[in-house]
Amino acid sequence: MKVLVTGGLGFIGSHTVIALFDAGYTPIILDNLSNSSRRVLTQLTKITGNEFEFYEGCISDRALLSTIFSAHKIEGVFHFAALKAVGESTVQPLSYYHNNVSHTITMLEVMAKHNIAKLVFSSSATVYGDPQYLPLDEKHPISATNPYGWTKVMVERILQDYCTANSDALAIALRYFNPVGAHPSGQLGESPNGIPNNLMPYIAQTAIGIREQLNVFGDDYDTHDGTGVRDYIHVQDLVAGHVDAFKHHVKDVGFHPYNLGTGQGYSVLDMVAAFSQSAKCTIDYKICPRREGDVASNFADASKAKQYLNWQATHDLKAMTDDSWRWQTNYPKGLE
Ligand SMILES: NC(=O)c1ccc[n+]([C@@H]2O[C@H](COP(=O)([O-])OP(=O)(O)OC[C@H]3O[C@@H](n4cnc5c(N)ncnc54)[C@H](O)[C@@H]3O)[C@@H](O)[C@H]2O)c1
Repeated sequence: MKVLVTGGLGFIGSHTVIALFDAGYTPIILDNLSNSSRRVLTQLTKITGNEFEFYEGCISDRALLSTIFSAHKIEGVFHFAALKAVGESTVQPLSYYHNNVSHTITMLEVMAKHNIAKLVFSSSATVYGDPQYLPLDEKHPISATNPYGWTKVMVERILQDYCTANSDALAIALRYFNPVGAHPSGQLGESPNGIPNNLMPYIAQTAIGIREQLNVFGDDYDTHDGTGVRDYIHVQDLVAGHVDAFKHHVKDVGFHPYNLGTGQGYSVLDMVAAFSQSAKCTIDYKICPRREGDVASNFADASKAKQYLNWQATHDLKAMTDDSWRWQTNYPKGLE
C-alpha cells in the first residue's frame, strides 16, 4: 500500500518512513528541503536497503501533487511538512500561517480531486495552550500561546470541519509531546539548522563542544528541582504511534485526535543528568531568568492511544539519551 509522506526527509518524517516501510507500506516522499537535506535519502537506504521515491517540492504545488497522485495509487497522506520554530513564528507569523495552514488547505484540495480521503496530521501538545490541569488529556480546552501553536490549532479545526462536510474523509491528529532521541542505528537523527530550539539537541551539541554552555531558563518553578518539566518521547515510539493509528483507523472516517507522550515528566536538570551519563561527560549549564510563555510542567495523559490504538511508549530516558548521543557522535554537524 502506497502512502505519501510530506516532510519525509525531516526529523520525524524520516523516522516514520522507516517505520512505514518496516510495516509493509511503500512510502513516497515529498519535501522541499527547507529544513532537511537530500543526504537523508542515503541514510534511509543505508538503514533499510531500500531506495525511496522522492519528489522535491512544496506541498502547495498543485501540479506536482497531481503528478504524484496520478503516478501512484496513494492510500493516505502522512503530513509532517511544516515550519516548527516557535520563536521564529512570533517574528514571521505570515510565513507560518502561509506554509502550515494555507499550503495544507491547497494540499487537501488536490487530495480531494484525486479521491484521497485519509490524512495523518502532525499536531502538537502546543494545542493545549497554557495547561489548565495535568496530565493533559484530549478533552483539555484547545488554545495556543504563539503563532506556530495557532497554526496547529487552525489545521486541526480545518480537518474537523472537512471531515464533517465529507462523510468519507479520515483525519488523525497526533498531538506530539516532546520528541527526542534518534534511530538506534546512529545513522539518522535530528540535525537542526543553526542554534537548536529544543533542549535535547542543545544538550547534545553542548556535550560534543559545539555549544559552550546550556542555558537553563528558570530554576524557581514549582517542580521537584525548580526547572521546567516536559514529557519527552523517543522518536521511535512516536513513529510507531503513526503506524498503529493508521492501521487502526484505515477503514474509518471522521476526525480522531490522540496524545502521543509517555505520561512521565522529566525536568531540564533530569535531562542534563541523563545525557551526562550517556555521553560520559559533564554538561556545563547556567541558570537564566524564566522565558516568557514557558510553563512549569506539561505532560500527557496518553491513555486514549493505549485504549484505542494499543499503543504506548516503551523507550526509557536512557534509550533517548543513548540514541541521541550515538547520532551526535557519528554526525557532529548533522548531515549538512
Ligand atoms: N520536533 C518537535 O518537537 C515537534 C513537536 C510537535 C509537533 N511537531 C510537528 O511534527 C512535524 C515534523 O517535525 P520535525 O521535527 O520532523 O520537523 P523538521 O523540520 O525536521 O521536518 C519538517 C520537514 O518538512 C519540510 N517542509 C517544510 N515545509 C514544507 C513545504 N511547504 N513543502 C514541503 N516540505 C516542507 C522540511 O524541509 C522538513 O524536511 C511538523 O509538522 C512539526 O510541527 C514537531
